[in-house]
Amino acid sequence: MDYQQMAQNEVVGYWRAILATLKQRGLLRERPRQGGMVVPHALAVMDQERVLFVLDMMRLGGVARERWLDRKLWHQWRAALSGRRVVVADGYGLVVVVGRHPGPVVAKRLPSIISLTPDVIPDGLYTVCLGMDNRGPVVLDLAGSERAILCGGCPGGGKSNLMESIILQLVTKHTPDEFQVAIVDTKEVDFGPVFARLPHLFMPVAHTMDEATALIGAVEQERLRRQAVMAHEGVNDWRKLVEPFPLLLAVIDEAADFAKTPVMDVLVESARKGRAMGVSFVVGTQLPSARVIDPQVRAALETAVAFRCRTHIESQAILGVGGAEKLDRPGLALAYLGGRWRTVQTLLVDDDAGGDLAQRAAVPQAPALSELETVLVRYAVEALGGRFIIGQLYQEFAGQMSKRALTKLGQRWEVRGWLTSPAHATDPRRVTDELLSLCSGDLLPGQGTGNGDRVIGVIGGDRDAPVVIGAGDRQIQEVTG
Ligand SMILES: Nc1ncnc2c1ncn2[C@@H]1O[C@H](COP(=O)(O)OP(=O)(O)OP(=O)(O)O)[C@@H](O)[C@H]1O
Ligand SMILES: [Mg+2]
Repeated sequence: MDYQQMAQNEVVGYWRAILATLKQRGLLRERPRQGGMVVPHALAVMDQERVLFVLDMMRLGGVARERWLDRKLWHQWRAALSGRRVVVADGYGLVVVVGRHPGPVVAKRLPSIISLTPDVIPDGLYTVCLGMDNRGPVVLDLAGSERAILCGGCPGGGKSNLMESIILQLVTKHTPDEFQVAIVDTKEVDFGPVFARLPHLFMPVAHTMDEATALIGAVEQERLRRQAVMAHEGVNDWRKLVEPFPLLLAVIDEAADFAKTPVMDVLVESARKGRAMGVSFVVGTQLPSARVIDPQVRAALETAVAFRCRTHIESQAILGVGGAEKLDRPGLALAYLGGRWRTVQTLLVDDDAGGDLAQRAAVPQAPALSELETVLVRYAVEALGGRFIIGQLYQEFAGQMSKRALTKLGQRWEVRGWLTSPAHATDPRRVTDELLSLCSGDLLPGQGTGNGDRVIGVIGGDRDAPVVIGAGDRQIQEVTG
């Protein structure tokens, strides 16, 4: 089809929608003898941005002038034209102006509460249900077309709830071998204990700015590591690896904290380049301003989901167009997905259901640590003061594990937050609380107390801070290393 034909079809399509709306509103009348309708006539002019229908004032189809200027009619046209802006200009004659680029139409007739329940979770790998629009469930592919999501809107709009819903759906159907999540929650009000206990955590949930900085850095490090592995294996997509990496989803609840900082640059870099390495992002902000969502952030987070916004300008910062200022209740969101604008009632995570789903989290049958690994951790705590010293571990376990395997184990555990990251390459890593908790069941016998006290945890683990072993809650014993 040539260009002229396409343009003609487009113009005719708009005009038909305009007439159909007039008919629907009962503004057109039947032709008495020939049948059909008496319709207005117009001359169409098209440029890059819009089509102008210059009405023939002698042949207005019997539609009174003031009817054309009724804003309710314009809104109805807009809905019929997939959200394109329509206005009627009144000068020497009447001109119907139709914007050529579709915009969002906010649909409101959706239930105001749709709960997240196991049956709404879609089957596909790494897919989740965002919620319902007027055509049914809206599915997001966190490893594909929706792998980098920006969600914004006023406080109380439903951003954190959406993030929780995405995480819970993914942990329900993927094991930690297939899916890992890194969470930044600097507000510390959302992502409760249910999330802190997920076996899918890439690192402990970050609550402070320092932790958040470390977490975002670790995600980027992991992306670079994956890139190197893939280069070595000669593949250009993580899913082509013989043993694919888990999808790593970084969920950052409030991006305004990082606006214009180097951490934001790292985040943007990671989000921009993470596609091939299975690194995905969901980033939220309650300050949808140009300061937070600058062009780099916008470009790196390709999918935008807007909850209620205060102004047209805020909506524009998130979506590139207005519309989200018309959303009138929590959980209702506007997004451009699958080639069109959708108003979606997102799924509500109620406390019970959330807890239930987390309980059902898909975990591998095997325990997190093998028997040998448990013994190794115990040795590190008992004999090495909590330090994971590869040389010494190797000496002790030479027959059972190669030095290379120990080195790899150390790296893997560090990435997971099971060992600390030392400030200097020559310093040993240290066993963290989290790793220790995985040796649960058999509490580690305390050492050197001679009174049968038991070690209940290893706190700290900074390079400078000594490792402290708690012996009951009455007495804390310091093991200097
Ligand atoms: N999908 C939903 N359906 C119904 N109600 C919802 C939905 N999402 C959120 N809400 C309601 O809105 C409240 C606020 O939601 P949420 O904490 O997710 O907002 P937020 O955008 O993260 O706010 P803030 O910016 O203050 O962190 C929830 O406690 C809940 O009552
Ligand atoms: Mg929130």
